[in-house]
Amino acid sequence: MRHVKLGVNIDHVATLRQARKEKNPDTVEAARVVLSSGGDMVVMHLRQDRRHVQDSDLERVRHEVKGLLHLEMAAIPEMEKLALKLRPDSVCLVPESPKEVTTQGGMKLEGKNPDLVKTIKSLSDAGIGVSVFADPEPGAIRAAHNMGADSIELCTSRYSEAWGKKLQAKELEKLQLAGFLVKELKMDLHAGHGLDYYNVGPVARIEGMDCLNIGYSIISRAMFVGLKSAVAEMKRLIQ
Ligand code: PXP
Repeated sequence: MRHVKLGVNIDHVATLRQARKEKNPDTVEAARVVLSSGGDMVVMHLRQDRRHVQDSDLERVRHEVKGLLHLEMAAIPEMEKLALKLRPDSVCLVPESPKEVTTQGGMKLEGKNPDLVKTIKSLSDAGIGVSVFADPEPGAIRAAHNMGADSIELCTSRYSEAWGKKLQAKELEKLQLAGFLVKELKMDLHAGHGLDYYNVGPVARIEGMDCLNIGYSIISRAMFVGLKSAVAEMKRLIQ
């Protein structure tokens, strides 16, 4: 059986908690349920504006939960320092802009970017796996490879938002070609953003896919069936 790993993003457990700024729902409890229901790792995005996940969520999940922790973060000194202190198992470097509702596409990787190279190196030297969130474009993938990243997370938002079978097939083909290049460069292949129970299958079946990172659809479904079933159902779909 193929094993495509499932990273479950629990940011929106914190979004709900922040609506009242009380203790519930607890991200530590969510992380434990994720890992005991078929999720291979817990994913959290610490945003600069702290709109959902707080520093204390990350610290508690890191220290109170046994299992893999994957941190999504902007490639800025504040987050680099925090990651070096917290030591997640892996990070994904993402672009961040204050007004966006959610991450908008992959990192801008054209041209020389010595600061990004330095961040990737310092995280890698600390034993933290580094992936870069990239659009399914050969230029971006080669640039991330040249900068020293060991994994690429392909941004699936254009595929997820594509309207109609024809457009979706076109976006899927771009992801397949990009996946081929990632594997040719001997990097780990991840994908995510906007994936749900209906559109995940073809992405999970891309040759060489190592890991899918999914949040919003799983946490939304959990409202009705519970987090355990929502995670287990997604895990079944991606095998
Ligand atoms: N991958 C990355 C890099 C992301 O920024 C996000 C959103 O935090 C996801 C995956 C998960 O996206 P979604 O919540 O739409 O499943």
